[in-house]
Amino acid sequence: MARRDASQVWRGDHPWAVVYDRISGGERLGRLVWRVGMGSDLGLLHRSAAAELGALPDGAAVLDIPCGGGVALRDLPAGRSVRYVAGDISPAMLERTRREAHRRRVDVELRECDVHDLAFDDGAFDLVLAFTSLHCFPQPRRAVQEIARVLAPGGRLAGSTMLTDMGLRHRLGWIGGRTIGVLGPGCTRADLVTWLEEAGMHDIVLRPSGGIVYVTATRG
Ligand SMILES: C[S@@+](CC[C@H](N)C(=O)[O-])C[C@H]1O[C@@H](n2cnc3c(N)ncnc32)[C@H](O)[C@@H]1O
Repeated sequence: MARRDASQVWRGDHPWAVVYDRISGGERLGRLVWRVGMGSDLGLLHRSAAAELGALPDGAAVLDIPCGGGVALRDLPAGRSVRYVAGDISPAMLERTRREAHRRRVDVELRECDVHDLAFDDGAFDLVLAFTSLHCFPQPRRAVQEIARVLAPGGRLAGSTMLTDMGLRHRLGWIGGRTIGVLGPGCTRADLVTWLEEAGMHDIVLRPSGGIVYVTATRG
């Protein structure tokens, strides 16, 4: 039987997308569920996003893809004048991000887009945030190439993903995600490093946290 395309499953706002948004959006609940379910520190996502966003000069451009319900948007320091573009394949997720931006009174450009084929110029962004991302995409290698393409030389990637070689403890969650159709083929740690390097990224730093690995890298 052919596997469903995970991106189309997300696009249709699968019940898991609603649950995921509730979990990751809730400060306390998110931290608890991530700790118990993934053995992972959700605070790392926010610390990584806050550090990268805080280091940007005024006038810089950020692409948050996939933005989901606007989880990383919460880490945008108040009063920063950066261009913040939030992209996702799911109209429902974009609507959640719109509401989050409204609550926080920040300006965000919402773009319905597919990470495999981004309608942005080469080098358009100084920072791409891609948290909890690659494992949800049908073609993670292609996604890495597109993310690198839209980064300006010296631009930064900060993101996170599940890996297929993250250990037995996390296999069950992986199998569950594949079964309901919200996970793509994924990649190993070695795949990820190879794909980043071949896309022209350097200074690659991987930091595992339970079933998730956090990554930062710089565009050459
Ligand atoms: C696990 S959520 C992560 C969202 C957010 N970054 C976070 O950390 O909460 C995965 C997101 O990927 C989006 N997505 C899946 N396939 C996509 C694609 N091909 N292009 C853009 N977004 C996609 C889904 O709609 C969903 O919002």
